[in-house]
Amino acid sequence: MDSFLIKGGVPLRGEVTISGSKNAALPILAATLLTAEPCIIRRVPDLSDTRYMVKILESLGATAKFEDGTVTVHAKKIKGYADYDLVRKMRGSICIAGPLLARLHKARISLPGGCIIGARPINLHLKGFAALGAKIKIEGGYIDATAKKITGGSMFLGGRAGPTVLGTANVMMAASLGEGITVIESAACEPEVVDLANFLNAMGAQITGAGSPTITIQGVTKLHGAEHEVIPDRIETATFIIAAAATNGEVTVKGGRADHLRAVLDKLNEANVSVERKGADMVVKRKGKLKPVDITTLPYSGFPTDVQAQMMSLLALAPGISILTERIFESRFMHVSELARLGAEIEIEGPSAIVKGGKPLSGAQVMASDLRASAALVIAGMAAKGSTQVNRIYHLDRGYEKMDEKLKQLGARIQRVEGS
Ligand code: EPZ
Repeated sequence: MDSFLIKGGVPLRGEVTISGSKNAALPILAATLLTAEPCIIRRVPDLSDTRYMVKILESLGATAKFEDGTVTVHAKKIKGYADYDLVRKMRGSICIAGPLLARLHKARISLPGGCIIGARPINLHLKGFAALGAKIKIEGGYIDATAKKITGGSMFLGGRAGPTVLGTANVMMAASLGEGITVIESAACEPEVVDLANFLNAMGAQITGAGSPTITIQGVTKLHGAEHEVIPDRIETATFIIAAAATNGEVTVKGGRADHLRAVLDKLNEANVSVERKGADMVVKRKGKLKPVDITTLPYSGFPTDVQAQMMSLLALAPGISILTERIFESRFMHVSELARLGAEIEIEGPSAIVKGGKPLSGAQVMASDLRASAALVIAGMAAKGSTQVNRIYHLDRGYEKMDEKLKQLGARIQRVEGS
């Protein structure tokens, strides 16, 4: 397993260009199953997760090509079965369920199982499918969904932690190719849901309200091929902005969307970090001494849970007490014990992490546990004195395209060490 070897203490300087959004690309790639015509998806980040999704599409019978960030998919004839081995490795693959149900009126998919940040149930996905007229059976760890036809329907998709992003995506895709009108209440408002709706509408779907808590879909009998460019990755953008601030550097972030990051930019401003907009670019640097802030993760447009770990690394450097409360996932503090190995003083109290910031960090061996925790450890390692080795960075390769190369271009002393 590969590791990153980082020599900390170097302020990042220069320009970095943001890649396409992993969390927009995955459901959009799944949506290509809704038509027998070819689709071309551009600005797809080259990640293990996106490569894996292309493999899943091929295993279902589609032909696919992934070259220079463009994926061409032709799902002329497909089967409705995705086995355990395929689905368990990537939770995002659950979003093939909606397209398979709509196109074939049946889907047999392994339950995705949980992951390190939480149980990751799919009850709301299934509630949505049932509201569209599907019959759902769960046995042997598989979901069997069948529907004589997709009849449309109304549903409330809010769960214990608010809306579901992939649940909204799944139901929107299933409802697009069918009869009747579907109204999703408490729909997720994330930009990735809007991007998917735009792609589906380009295929001939009739979706209104995406980006708001109420999405209406008028089912159509056929969807055609389409071309689409994926939005930039707002979580990668936030990660690089925070890395620039944490190393006390000055970085121009290119190709990101500041309007997708209002909550993050607001909290960074409060922490005394300036993110100045120059056209479409964002120029990041500290305004002075870092200040502590309190953060609660919320559904969009609140502070994103996918930026909580990275922000914790920054706030470990801000003199004073910061409180980060995680309201979306039940165990998304795996990075805390690793940050403590770098000298951070953090206590967990229920859903909150109390950060006593301001002590300088010093390098150590640390273990990545999930995608965003890995990013947090890389940020902390670059801000720490001395050397840090971040192990198991395959977690990072799932969701960040060429992170080490991009950081090297900004002056970071980071190298990938091939693992055993
Ligand atoms: C998406 O996951 C993202 N993944 C996650 O990003 C992100 O953290 C999450 O949305 C929240 O923003 C992709 O888009 C591939 P949810 P998703 O369904 O859709 C509960 C990353 O780092 N819930 O919005 O799977 C669930 O337990 C990843 O890029 C139910 O209770 O998340 C959680 O508490 C990590 N029942 C909350 O809702 C359900 O049926 C939000 O989950 C579904 C979800």
